[in-house]
Amino acid sequence: MVMVVYPGSFDPFTLGHLDVVRRAAALFDVVVVGVASNLAKSPLLPLEARAELAGIAVRDVPGVRVEVVPGLLAEFCRLRGADAVVKGLRGGGDYAAELPMALMNRHLGVETVFITADPVFSHISSSMVKEVARYGGPIDDLVPEAVARRVRAAVADRAG
Ligand code: PNS
Repeated sequence: MVMVVYPGSFDPFTLGHLDVVRRAAALFDVVVVGVASNLAKSPLLPLEARAELAGIAVRDVPGVRVEVVPGLLAEFCRLRGADAVVKGLRGGGDYAAELPMALMNRHLGVETVFITADPVFSHISSSMVKEVARYGGPIDDLVPEAVARRVRAAVADRAG
C-alpha cells in the first residue's frame, strides 16, 4: 500500500487542488490531504475551517482523507508511515517555490513527487481566489461551492 501526503495551506481549497487530489488518488492507494500552517502567510480562514472545507471537497474521492498537520510536515509523514509528499506544479513559478521545500523535506526524510497540474486550472490559486472575492468578483467556478460560501462570508466579515 502506497500512502502519500498532499500538503498545503489550502486557504482556501480550490478546484485546482481537487484536480491534483483526484490524479494523486488514481496513482496511490491512500492520499492524505495535509492542511498545514505556512509561517510565511497569514491566512483568511482558520486551520480547522480550511481542513473542514477540504474534507467536503474530497468526500467523493475514494482513498482520500483530510488531516491537520500540527507541526513539521516531515515528522507528520514519518508518524503516518507515508511514502512520499505529493505537490502540484502549474509552472516554473511553482517549481521555484517548491524545490527548496522538496529539498528540505528530503533532508528531513521524505521525498516529494510532483504532479503537473491540468492547464485548465493553471490560472487558479488560493491567493487569486481571495483577491477576486475581496473585490466582489465571482469565484464559483474557481472553488467548490461550500468553499465559495465560506470565503465570501470571511471576506465580508473582514470588510465589516
Ligand atoms: O500551500 P502552501 O502554503 O504553499 O504550502 C506550504 C506548506 C504548508 C506545505 C509548508 O509551509 C509546510 O510544509 N508547512 C508545515 C511546516 C513545515 O514542515 N515546514 C517546513 C517545510 S520544508
